[in-house]
Amino acid sequence: MKKINKLKLLDNIQFIYELALARLELQSFSQKLKVTNDFREFEITNHDSLKELTTRLAYFKTVNEAFTDYYFLQKFNQTKSVNQFLTHWIYPYKGKFHPQMIRALLNIINIKKGELLLDPFVGSGTAILEAQLLGINGIGIDISPLCVLISKVKTESIDVLDEIKKYQKFYLYKKDGKETADERVKNFYKVAEMMAHSDRSRRGKNFETSHINDALKMLASVEDYYKVKQQLKLKLGKTKIIQGDTRKIKLKNESVDGIITSPPYSIALNYVANDAHSLQALGYDLNQIKEDFIGVRGTGLNKFKLYDKDMEKAYSEMYRVMKRGKYCVVIIGNVTFQGQEIDTTQNVVKCCEKNGFKTVKKIEKIIYGLYNVMQKEYILIFKKG
Ligand SMILES: C[S@@+](CC[C@H](N)C(=O)[O-])C[C@H]1O[C@@H](n2cnc3c(N)ncnc32)[C@H](O)[C@@H]1O
Repeated sequence: MKKINKLKLLDNIQFIYELALARLELQSFSQKLKVTNDFREFEITNHDSLKELTTRLAYFKTVNEAFTDYYFLQKFNQTKSVNQFLTHWIYPYKGKFHPQMIRALLNIINIKKGELLLDPFVGSGTAILEAQLLGINGIGIDISPLCVLISKVKTESIDVLDEIKKYQKFYLYKKDGKETADERVKNFYKVAEMMAHSDRSRRGKNFETSHINDALKMLASVEDYYKVKQQLKLKLGKTKIIQGDTRKIKLKNESVDGIITSPPYSIALNYVANDAHSLQALGYDLNQIKEDFIGVRGTGLNKFKLYDKDMEKAYSEMYRVMKRGKYCVVIIGNVTFQGQEIDTTQNVVKCCEKNGFKTVKKIEKIIYGLYNVMQKEYILIFKKG
């Protein structure tokens, strides 16, 4: 006899693109499904492993009556923002991914435990942290030493929780003992310092007070991560964060099982100027490092030409390192320059197809900016045939 399983969406799902992703992620586990109760519930018949659904799904609150892992782990949150749970909130990085969307995409591209995900523009590490939570191994690459530091801290601090606590007095109150030899512990306190630099330069806060408050809140988040890992019996994926240039990826041909990434949106954001205070505090010369940042190089119209050339190289590298039959997801938006919209999205499609990728899906997604100005982004899914 056919058994009907009922799945309820999480309460915060409100956008059409979220519904579309919820449907697609469920479809990747069960081809046949029915939408009921005004789009708040789904039904599937005969699924072998309900456990798999409760552990992997991103947009669902319950499978039959059982709560999903995601519903549970989202509650471990030291901030007011629902999607900044566990260590996701660390460092106010502009243009972070929405973690829930990443988990859904990991399901949609059907990447399994123990396989390898690459984010070649890793930014603040959202995709690699989400992969880690699902037991998927992850490699993140970024040209920015600050991004490398933040991504490492979000994903590696859980392994040195006791050490971080042990060195608290030394790093925060300049008391007792000496430096640790463990890079991961040093990185943790360095990021707390960078957050205080950001609080001072962006919000005029007192450096010393911010430093201590940020470090303690970070520590509470790492403790949360540890608790979630124990309670849900998670086997975390292995992670590796590398400082590097995606125009020349140092990975073997056909070595990764999937890519989820968001490259710079043409010249829309100056990632060097944005984090100038922290990069300088880390001892970097902004003029020098900016030469390798895609979308920041050059001046005037030449900036666009350089961007296109750089991204051509990046997409060809992404194609090279992917295994056949696997998927690459690019999240990108168009930019407006001197009143004219530049179709960055269509350029990505052209460039990826030229390299051999097949376009499988294009999902429109809205983002709310300042004063609720609505902008569009696209989730592009490509397949290497
Ligand atoms: C849109 S952001 C990624 C944000 C990320 N998805 C997150 O959740 O935080 C794009 C990133 O590309 C990086 N980038 C720019 N040029 C690069 C290059 N040549 N190689 C690797 N990364 C680069 C920037 O430093 C920036 O962090």
